[in-house]
Amino acid sequence: MNEPVKHIAIIMDGNGRWATKRGLPRTAGHKRGAEVVIDISKAAKEAGVKYLTLYAFSTENWKRPKDEVDTLMNLLRQYLSENFEELNKNDIRICFIGEREMLASDIIEKMQYLEEKTKNNSSATLQIALSYGSRAEITNTVKKIAQKVKNGDMSLESIDEKTISDMLYTKGIPDPDILIRTSGEQRLSNYLLWQLAYSEFFFTPTYWPDFTKEELYEIIKTYQSRERRYGKI
Ligand code: IPE
Ligand code: IPE
Ligand code: MG
Repeated sequence: MNEPVKHIAIIMDGNGRWATKRGLPRTAGHKRGAEVVIDISKAAKEAGVKYLTLYAFSTENWKRPKDEVDTLMNLLRQYLSENFEELNKNDIRICFIGEREMLASDIIEKMQYLEEKTKNNSSATLQIALSYGSRAEITNTVKKIAQKVKNGDMSLESIDEKTISDMLYTKGIPDPDILIRTSGEQRLSNYLLWQLAYSEFFFTPTYWPDFTKEELYEIIKTYQSRERRYGKI
């Protein structure tokens, strides 16, 4: 069986440990990690994967020490301005999911600019989860639905699973076939709880800065040999 892979979601973890192991500041790991983002985005597209969703910063990551958050935000500023043009050249559409209003206004502007600039790219979509938390996403969706019912724009009886999927931040994007988490941790850390209901999970000990396209292709190969039963027999 060679089931095509439409969507891969990745929890890019282990930047800090990668750096600490080398006697470097954690920032060095984040820097290297950001470079891997570009390589893996191109590699996924080359493998025919239409959607790639990367967990870059969680709603819980705001609770890290201020200097680490500041450094991460500065790196983000730099990468959004300098490195993402490369993805545009590769015909990759870029979009962001998460609690946008928590980010600085200049970062929000850069995000909007990239979304606008790449909106007609059609080879693949890179969805970046930034200031993202699945529980916040679901909470917001519940509120939106409740408001519609309250206004009389939606009936209670008409609400089904599709209603919810279509109102999440990921609307219009198929659920991930594959979830990958690097760095050996085996938890979801508030990532895509609804969307990952039937995804195949892959946990690798590799720290994100060491993750390669060869490892990605190996995972895709293993996925294609697995059988997804969706509750059936
Ligand atoms: C992942 O690496 C990147 C972010 C969460 C921003 P970490 O910073 O979590 O690295 P470790 O897990 O501490 O090694
Ligand atoms: C999850 O990694 C978030 C991202 C990779 C952006 P964390 O390192 O923040 O998760 P925990 O704290 O190990 O659960
Ligand atoms: Mg971590």
